[in-house]
Amino acid sequence: MLIALLPGDGIGPEVITQARRVLDALHIDGLVFEEALVGGAAYKATGHPLPAEALALAKRADAILFGAVGDPDCDALERHLRPEQAILGLRKELSLFANLRPATLFPELADASALRPEVASQIDMVIVRELNGDVYFGEKGMRMTANGKREGYDIMSYDEDEVRRIARVGFETAMARGKKLCSVDKANVLETSQLWRDVVIETHADYPEVTLMHMYVDNCAMQLVRNPGQFDVIVTGNLFGDILSDQASMCVGSIGMLPSASLDSDQKGLYEPIHGSAPDIAGQGKANPLATILSAAMMLRYSLNLPEYADRIEAAVAKALAAGARSPDLGGTCTTAEMGDAVLAAL
Ligand code: IPM
Ligand code: MG
Repeated sequence: MLIALLPGDGIGPEVITQARRVLDALHIDGLVFEEALVGGAAYKATGHPLPAEALALAKRADAILFGAVGDPDCDALERHLRPEQAILGLRKELSLFANLRPATLFPELADASALRPEVASQIDMVIVRELNGDVYFGEKGMRMTANGKREGYDIMSYDEDEVRRIARVGFETAMARGKKLCSVDKANVLETSQLWRDVVIETHADYPEVTLMHMYVDNCAMQLVRNPGQFDVIVTGNLFGDILSDQASMCVGSIGMLPSASLDSDQKGLYEPIHGSAPDIAGQGKANPLATILSAAMMLRYSLNLPEYADRIEAAVAKALAAGARSPDLGGTCTTAEMGDAVLAAL
């Protein structure tokens, strides 16, 4: 089984190093790794954020473990050369349309949540975010208006097939959990959202056991901090899912804790922490590697069909936290490597 390691920029390489240590310590038969440059690092070395070599490796691999991309040195580049194009390109090229972002509170971290512990302790949800469409991939550009003003535009759209396939993932995810699905949209204003809502309702006919509700995205943002325990599975579009998943991460303690899986229709997947490259703390040993380590666990569970190893990693993370391992984002002083040490010690 070939794992593509794509560390990327900023803290990406640091957190991937720790995830690799954990995977190595499991001594899984037949697991091999190959690494490639992506993001700003790849642009600086090759002139492109997603070089052909990295894309080919990702296609060949059985699963991909991704760090983060984003580099302020590249902010002035044309958009198609910016680091973010690496992750957007991989999601599109590999048809990784279903992004699963579980948010669960480790009981030890109740004090690190931005919410009161009794509210935070109720959180146990999965955000299912669509990844291949929406305003992210619509026509976009800069133009001049008739009266000579610069105007930027990005077109938002979803066709019904795109909505149906992610709605199915939402319903299936709910079936495997608490059988409650909340579809998040902005149907009071956007036509894209009206279609979204109509198609989700149609798809519900195949999943009568699931309780479906709909929520406008602004209300959802409020409910996530007011009463996050009400959510089991949320299904939403690319942009709303991007925003709500960052918010959910602070509800469970830190953005340094949330893993994610981006899957195609055959369970091939790319696994990455939901956080970015955090250039402000890169290279200082301050990054929390747990989101990436937990992403490696998701990889073992979803793409490599090795759930027992995934369980071991997740249990080791819980044990490390219980033993007091805390990086700065969690209010502690452990370095990135010490967080990795703590997980290894608990394996
Ligand atoms: C994420 C990130 C990406 C996104 C960026 C890096 C393009 O914020 O995975 O949530 O917006 O999807
Ligand atoms: Mg994001």
